[in-house]
Amino acid sequence: MKITDTGDLWWKNAVVYCLDAETFMDWNDDGVGDFPGLAQRLDHLAELGVTCLWLMPFYTSAERDDGYDIIDFYGVDSRLGTHGDLVELIRTARDRGIRVIADLVVNHTSDQHPWFVQSRSSKDNPFRDFYVWRADEPPDTSDQVVFPDQEDSIWELDETTGEYYLHRFYKHQPDLNVANPHVRDEIAKVMGFWLELGLSGFRVDAVPYLLEGAGGRDGNPDGDPHDYLRSLRSFLGRRSGDAILLGEVNLPYPEQIRFFGDGAGDELSMMFDFVGMQQFYLALARQDARPAAQALRDRPEIPVDAQWATFVRNHDELTLDKLTDDERQEVFDAFGPEESMQLFGRGLRRRLPPMLDGDPRRIRMVYSLLFSVPGTPVLFYGEEIGMGENLDVPGRLAVRTPMQWTAQRNGGFSHAEPDDLVAPVVTGGFGPEHINVAAQRNDPDSLLNFIGHLARRYRECPELGWARGEVLDQPHHAVLAHRCTWDDSSLVAVHNLSAEPCVVPLVLDDVGPDTELVDLLQEGRVTCSEDGTVQVPIGGYGYRWLRVVQPGSRRLV
Ligand code: BGC
Repeated sequence: MKITDTGDLWWKNAVVYCLDAETFMDWNDDGVGDFPGLAQRLDHLAELGVTCLWLMPFYTSAERDDGYDIIDFYGVDSRLGTHGDLVELIRTARDRGIRVIADLVVNHTSDQHPWFVQSRSSKDNPFRDFYVWRADEPPDTSDQVVFPDQEDSIWELDETTGEYYLHRFYKHQPDLNVANPHVRDEIAKVMGFWLELGLSGFRVDAVPYLLEGAGGRDGNPDGDPHDYLRSLRSFLGRRSGDAILLGEVNLPYPEQIRFFGDGAGDELSMMFDFVGMQQFYLALARQDARPAAQALRDRPEIPVDAQWATFVRNHDELTLDKLTDDERQEVFDAFGPEESMQLFGRGLRRRLPPMLDGDPRRIRMVYSLLFSVPGTPVLFYGEEIGMGENLDVPGRLAVRTPMQWTAQRNGGFSHAEPDDLVAPVVTGGFGPEHINVAAQRNDPDSLLNFIGHLARRYRECPELGWARGEVLDQPHHAVLAHRCTWDDSSLVAVHNLSAEPCVVPLVLDDVGPDTELVDLLQEGRVTCSEDGTVQVPIGGYGYRWLRVVQPGSRRLV
């Protein structure tokens, strides 16, 4: 691997951090987080080892879906600041070695977007075709809605013209018609605009839905919707050589892989590994690593300039929709038995630490695994300190509470009155009095320092970002052992999902008695025998990252 490759494909071993400026840090004390507040906290992210900041939607919106219902793609939500504040933020982040990407939500708009206001006004309005209309009565689509608690159809009758418009999400989020070349042009301009302001790419919302209408509707029934994704990627590449598209594609692997571009790597640069994440929770619930191991084995091969984005929690419900009903129930039983903890019948609205009863060993083991599986780790704000959720807040918003900076009022997020905050802080054992950045910064044994340690080690191990990785055979069901090798770097990771300590025998056929496996997370090393077998002791809920050190290796250990 050449140094030029690693620099160009920066996302292959980035540490991504997702936040909503609204709930991160309030600098003008109006109760809403803002860009100036976030800019003040960039050093926290830099110190943690974050290299890419993903901003959730900050655009002018109707705020009925937390910013995912956009009214002006070029606007900035005035509560967060101005375009000037955003540019300052991007510039300061760059100074700290952090690139900034943002949500690109172009499957739909708010029904208050001027395009939709025009479109619904009459059948011959020039914007009519910006959205998807049908005159005939739609069939039953209740099984296709994304939010089953609120919607029972993906079509809504609009009284003015007596026709139905398509909305995959809420009825106040009409789907754009991306088969229309004018819509495509508008989307490209939006991307171009934010790239000029300094963004390094986008997290693309709801990609399969976006592509759904990109094929046939313009009179070419055989059109390939992926041509549209290819054209977006090539536009991005022309405007900004190092920008990325990080796509939300929650599909089974064989369908998902197509969104990387059939081997050519010319569509999405990265995709979240939703399947791996869900199997991982099943493994955690069972304290049996086999589902996670199988998911790693099942991961399809990807083009060299594509990447998996790995995560254990994101801003939405923890979706378990790809598990069978019985498997999902097992995870519910283990981590969210009460109905108030579940959402849409398919997911959990909890954060990881409360699901694990705050057990520090298990929490650390999970993050160790997250950083060691091949891919690019994505953290959701607050994970670094072990924040919990607030189940009194409705729906998905339970995990979108204010960042907990100090033990003081409002967790140091804002000086506003608690009732004026954009969202209530977490209460109880995971509240700011117990969980906050200030306390953990000065505690060498804190989760914050542990995750920073993982991030630094991850950045030093190119094989974790670049290798395909292989699951190593061994006899313990509770243990996941895997190995990543890239160029002259090789790392063996061993994780124990159960409380029982054990000794894990591994066969590494390219090592001999001169090879040492050196621990990267703590003091320790294991020597290999003549025939390449090693015995790796591991504690209950233990984790070990072992760098394979061959004689003469110049790798830092
Ligand atoms: C986002 C959600 C959002 C939805 C509609 C999703 O995929 O992750 O937070 O509600 O898109 O835009």
